[in-house]
Amino acid sequence: MKKFTINGRPVALDVDAVTTLLWVIRDEVGLTGTKFGCGIGMCGACTVHVDGRAVRSCITPVGSVEGAAVTTIEGLGQNGPHALQKAWVAAQVPQCGYCQSGQIMQAATLLKDHPQPTDANIDTFMSGNLCRCMAYVRIRSAIKQAAAEINGVPSKGVQPNA
Ligand code: FES
Ligand code: FES
Repeated sequence: MKKFTINGRPVALDVDAVTTLLWVIRDEVGLTGTKFGCGIGMCGACTVHVDGRAVRSCITPVGSVEGAAVTTIEGLGQNGPHALQKAWVAAQVPQCGYCQSGQIMQAATLLKDHPQPTDANIDTFMSGNLCRCMAYVRIRSAIKQAAAEINGVPSKGVQPNA
């Protein structure tokens, strides 16, 4: 039996320890916001948080998260949408949308480490999250908008078509 929490909810699942966290989240728990992209840790579509840090759930055995706190895109906002989720909407970031939950989960850890991220911080943190629709400019804009909101800086707004 594997016991941990997902979005603050305790779960106890009778799954093999080597089953990847991604498939446990999607198939056993039924949260489908986390996506399967490459399956080899190279695209970031499956990014979730384990004890507050971004991990690639497609290469994370569920046995390794025993007792941990797992957060998915569905649980990122504490009381309503997270600042990143609001900025994503305002900037109209997604195109096909497939990569976006992973992008947001990765960006959330960026803002923990760099509350006022520079372009270089964003490039470093986000370079492993691929977007086949090339939404990178809007992703950068939305991250900065979310950082401004979190830091209480007056918003200049975002450019949806930036
Ligand atoms: S699906 Fe996990 S990194 Fe691509
Ligand atoms: S919005 Fe389509 S892959 Fe990123």
